[in-house]
Amino acid sequence: MCTTTIQLSETDDSLIGKGRHRLCFAHPYDKERCVKIVHSQATGGSKELERELKYYHYLSTYLRDWRGIPRYYGTISTNLGTGYVYDRIVDYDGQTSLTMVEYFTHPLTKSSKIELVCLVNHLFQYLFDNRIITMTLKPYNILCHRISEKEMFPVICDNLGEASFIPIASRSRWFCHLKQRRIFRRFLSQPVINQLDACTDGIIFP
Ligand SMILES: Nc1ncnc2c1ncn2[C@@H]1O[C@H](COP(=O)(O)OP(=O)(O)OP(=O)(O)O)[C@@H](O)[C@H]1O
Ligand SMILES: [Mg+2]
Repeated sequence: MCTTTIQLSETDDSLIGKGRHRLCFAHPYDKERCVKIVHSQATGGSKELERELKYYHYLSTYLRDWRGIPRYYGTISTNLGTGYVYDRIVDYDGQTSLTMVEYFTHPLTKSSKIELVCLVNHLFQYLFDNRIITMTLKPYNILCHRISEKEMFPVICDNLGEASFIPIASRSRWFCHLKQRRIFRRFLSQPVINQLDACTDGIIFP
C-alpha cells in the first residue's frame, strides 16, 4: 500500500478547476489522472461525493463505454485531506479540456452552433444508451473533450447518480428514460445551451 502524502496547493498551476464543493488538481505523478479534494462541507460536499462514488460502484457493474465519464481509481492521502483520483480529461493536443461554458461563446457563431448541436446530441444519446443518471445536467459540468482536430465528445465530470432512497431510475430502464427526458429538457434551458432552438437546430431527443 502507498502511504506517501502528496502535496497540493491551490495557488499553483496544478489546480485545474474549482467548483462549489471540490477542487480539482492535476495528479503530480500521473499526467493522465486528476485528484479531487472536498473543500466545502457547508454545501454538503462529502454527501455529494459519497452519492457519486456509490453510483460509480454501480456503473462499474455494467458500463462498458466509458467515453463520457472519467473513471474513478480510489483515494490517496494529500496535505489537503483525502484525494479522490479520476481520469484527467485532456484534449488530443495536451490541453485540459474546457467545460461547455468555457468553450462556447455567447453569442454562438454559425460553426460553433453546429459543433454544440453535435455535442448535445452525442451527450443525450450516450446517456440514454448507457442508462446513466445525473442529478442535474449543467453545462459547466460537461467537458468538451477534443479527441482529434475534428472530433469532440462530451464528458460528464460531476453530479452523477441519484439521491432517491430507492434508486428506481438506476434499476428500471423505463423510469431511467423517463427521468432522462425530463433532465434533457431542463438542460436545453441552461445558459449557453439555451441559444439553441430544439425544434429547428437539429437536436435529437432519444
Ligand atoms: N476529470 C476531470 N478532468 C479535467 N477537468 C476536470 C475533471 N473533473 C473536473 N474538472 C474541472 O474541475 C472543475 C470542478 O470540478 P467538479 O465539477 O467536480 O467540482 P464540484 O465542486 O463538484 O462542482 P459543482 O460546483 O458543479 O458542484 C470542473 O468544472 C472542471 O472544470
Ligand atoms: Mg462541478
